[in-house]
Amino acid sequence: MKNSKKLQKDKVEIVVLTKEYLLERLENFLLIEKLCFPSSNCWSEQNFLEELPMKWSFSKACLASENKMKDNLVGYIFASRYGQRKAHIHRLAVHPSFQGRGIGSKLVCHMIAEVLQQRIAKITAESIAEKTRVNTFYRRLGFVELQRDETLRYLSVKKKMLKADSFHAVNDKGTRCVFSLNIHIHRGNKSSL
Ligand SMILES: CC(C)(COP(=O)(O)OP(=O)(O)OC[C@H]1O[C@@H](n2cnc3c(N)ncnc32)[C@H](O)[C@@H]1OP(=O)(O)O)[C@@H](O)C(=O)NCCC(=O)NCCS
Repeated sequence: MKNSKKLQKDKVEIVVLTKEYLLERLENFLLIEKLCFPSSNCWSEQNFLEELPMKWSFSKACLASENKMKDNLVGYIFASRYGQRKAHIHRLAVHPSFQGRGIGSKLVCHMIAEVLQQRIAKITAESIAEKTRVNTFYRRLGFVELQRDETLRYLSVKKKMLKADSFHAVNDKGTRCVFSLNIHIHRGNKSSL
């Protein structure tokens, strides 16, 4: 359901997601998971707490002061670095009452700003192939869909580097769409996945 009401700028805050913050409010994260994903695909406590490179710098939470929920948490992005110069979005979710109001885009943009400081050249993200609205969301932000060969290469790299099985994120049957955003850094080499 699309919410036509835009949130006022001063009522939304994007904050760095620390492990301490997550642990204190784990139940709120688990609730948003339940509301956003089918139970077969919901993240567990273990998924949220998995340690990955740069995770606690790249991951962000969105707080909205008009939210009636405890603690104002309305969305989050979990991301980490892999390889030398790549980052991956593991999870992105916005409470359904707050979707369609620019929060998802804000979370991704803040994460991009953070990875830029680490000279990351490529960001990848996944979507279930049928989730066309999510795919539109990523395309609008400049992500492009990987072709089949690139997707298979990506899956094998990801399996090795990210302990991906525990994130339920890799599907060898090819039913996932993988998106990638190349970031142009003026000084330095190009990344290749
Ligand atoms: C995908 C998601 C993170 C986008 O966040 P958002 O705050 O709704 O996105 P924004 O408001 O910044 O952008 C809205 C655009 O995203 C797309 N979109 C995708 N899913 C949407 C949804 N359920 N509601 C509204 N817009 C959605 C649309 O293209 C929309 O553009 P439009 O408003 O012109 O129709 C959010 O809808 C969500 O949590 N979905 C469920 C969980 C999920 O599938 N996560 C992604 C895979 S990990």
